[in-house]
Amino acid sequence: MSYERHIPAMAEEVADLLVTDTGGIYIDATLGTGGHTAYLLDHVPGSFRVIGLDQDRLAIEKARGFLERHSGRIEFLHGNFRNIKDLAGVAKCTGIVADLGISSLQLSDALRGFSYQGEGPLDMSMGEEARSVPKLLATAGEREISYLIKEFGEERRHRAIAREIVRIGLENPITTTGELRAAVERAAGQHGLMATLSRVFQAFRIWANSEMDALEEFLPQAVELLEPGGRIVVISYHSLEDRIVKRFFKLEESGCICPPDFPECRCAKEKRLRIMTRRPIRPSREELQKNQRARSAKLRAAERI
Ligand SMILES: C[S@@+](CC[C@H](N)C(=O)[O-])C[C@H]1O[C@@H](n2cnc3c(N)ncnc32)[C@H](O)[C@@H]1O
Repeated sequence: MSYERHIPAMAEEVADLLVTDTGGIYIDATLGTGGHTAYLLDHVPGSFRVIGLDQDRLAIEKARGFLERHSGRIEFLHGNFRNIKDLAGVAKCTGIVADLGISSLQLSDALRGFSYQGEGPLDMSMGEEARSVPKLLATAGEREISYLIKEFGEERRHRAIAREIVRIGLENPITTTGELRAAVERAAGQHGLMATLSRVFQAFRIWANSEMDALEEFLPQAVELLEPGGRIVVISYHSLEDRIVKRFFKLEESGCICPPDFPECRCAKEKRLRIMTRRPIRPSREELQKNQRARSAKLRAAERI
């Protein structure tokens, strides 16, 4: 089986924003095949160390091979970043990077079911905690499926697609990528089909891996792990993800959130972050020429106060 090597998005920008201490400890919370970690270790001078975490065992195995030359400076960890505080094995760190979503390695393996282009079981799990998409399609009603496609896929034809998925499922349960692709094709027609397929598959992948919930749980723990002056850099590929990061950074940048008519503060909320990117950073035109996959990437960074 040949896998596509993942090209890290905005690696230079990540390195510039993340590294504040060349002797520090950094966490790559979405190691993937180690693209960002490799860039840091190859391009930033210093003796800093990296803790590389991923929920996908296969990704870690690949990263271990690709990063062998740096093995003395990396610790590989398997697990979900929603448990980052328990997993990290350090009380504090200098910086954390999270490059959300899916890697080219995962997308290009047809047997994992992430892509409409391959033929395989509709697995879509990145880690052991994932939920079953075939089970969802067999048990959920049209409204729930329609909602997921709209919310996580941002697909306008969500109702027609959900109706067709449920109709087909009543005759033959949908358990493969090809069967899901055929249902979408029948409902949506040929116009803009590739983009629609990509959005529908994305929706079920996000649901299967509870990606938005994991992100919501990860962010506050990441802030607690950062030492003062340490930074968090997050790259997202979906507007919902970006909204979660933006709102979280804003909330952490504000102090007291008591109603204005309270005589004194009762919330005791502290400012914990300083936002470094008022607007998200997007990949340059030159980068997009080399890496189309980065086209929806948005980078936001903040510093622990
Ligand atoms: C976009 S890729 C990262 C690629 C990596 N930055 C590189 O350059 O090779 C996203 C990775 O994050 C992992 N991932 C996604 N959600 C995760 C989570 N909640 N916990 C741990 N890893 C996660 C995926 O398994 C995938 O390998």
